[in-house]
Amino acid sequence: MKVGVIGSGTMGSGIAQVASTANCEVVLYDVKDEALEKSRQALAKVMNRLVEKGKYEQAKADEIQDRISYSTRLNDFKGSDLVIEAIVENLEVKSKVFQELEGIVNENCIIASNTSSLSIASLAASLEQAERFIGVHFFNPAPLMKLVEVIPAIQTSEEVLKKTKQTIADWGKVVVEAKDTPGFIVNKVARPFYGEALRIYEEGMANVATIDWAMKELGGFRMGPFQLMDFIGNDVNYTVTETVFKAFYYDSRYKPAFAQKRLSEAGYLGKKSGRGYYNYAEGALNPEAEQDEKKGRKILDRILVMLINEAADTLHLNIASAVDIDLAMTNGVNYPKGLLAWANELGIQYCVEAMDDLFEEYHEERYRCSPILRKMAAKGERFEV
Ligand code: NAI
Repeated sequence: MKVGVIGSGTMGSGIAQVASTANCEVVLYDVKDEALEKSRQALAKVMNRLVEKGKYEQAKADEIQDRISYSTRLNDFKGSDLVIEAIVENLEVKSKVFQELEGIVNENCIIASNTSSLSIASLAASLEQAERFIGVHFFNPAPLMKLVEVIPAIQTSEEVLKKTKQTIADWGKVVVEAKDTPGFIVNKVARPFYGEALRIYEEGMANVATIDWAMKELGGFRMGPFQLMDFIGNDVNYTVTETVFKAFYYDSRYKPAFAQKRLSEAGYLGKKSGRGYYNYAEGALNPEAEQDEKKGRKILDRILVMLINEAADTLHLNIASAVDIDLAMTNGVNYPKGLLAWANELGIQYCVEAMDDLFEEYHEERYRCSPILRKMAAKGERFEV
């Protein structure tokens, strides 16, 4: 199989590595020579490390590298079966590349985008043959993160959807299917992990270290929300939140937080700038967690129930199946358990009451309980995960 990858940045390079490791012949294209060179060197480094660790034989590492050719000419995509685009997040720029590409590849070539925030329908509309277009959303770093969200646009044909899912699954990925809605599954369902933690912090209920401690130690999450926001970058995380908020027509459930906006404005971007919610300078003073279990449980409960409510509402709106929603969160952001499975454990009635308590306290739309939870609780049902 011949695979073309457009854009040799963080994501494109990772996707090229995944496809080549799965024995595909890969052409990696970028407008910048330097970007291609950087990508080639980065892959060589990764492969050397894998050989040193004994994970790969030298011959295999060489083959993976040899199967990728680096090019600044779109023409080299001729004969591709699948082309995945991973360039700047800009509709006009992407559309232009797709139009040019359609004149090069043959008509049964599937064209896909790794976009995180643009609608797949709007990208598909720039093609002559819109039915061959589809979203394939990898997670960073693509070679390590198991999840890929596959997103058919309303224009996408059934055959293209089926073939794409099969190909990505053959590459060893966990494939979930999502409707073409903002944030797809992961970037939508994960919002309360940050948003509710920020609300708790803004209200002064606890400091960042206590919230992180509660989510990690009591909830089993790998990183606390503030640690994770510092890791992702507060500018990046804020932009994702704002994009989802706007795209959902200003639904208050996704409202961004001033605390995070100010941090980005101040240049406190997190680990990459040396300071975010925490100060990463050596010897810097940082807040300490109050290891108060009762308080910690309250924090965990509030964030978790908001996450469950978001996951349930995602099912309610038919954005994905219950199984795929849980797979997405455990494989895309490494949650310790699927949220719907967690809801079954806590009890659906318990989740409804917890949401209603929050709504009672705040009288904000943000805390409305998803109708699906209420219906299921009334019937004594559980999520089928
Ligand atoms: P990046 O900035 O690391 O790489 C983009 C590359 O595209 C650069 O090498 C640039 O030279 C090249 N490029 C720009 N315009 C081009 C054009 N017209 N033709 C060919 N090459 C062009 O970006 P990154 O982070 O890899 O993101 C790429 C896409 O993947 C975006 O759509 C982004 O939303 C999406 N994405 C990013 C994730 C992340 O965590 N960084 C996760 C999932 C999706």
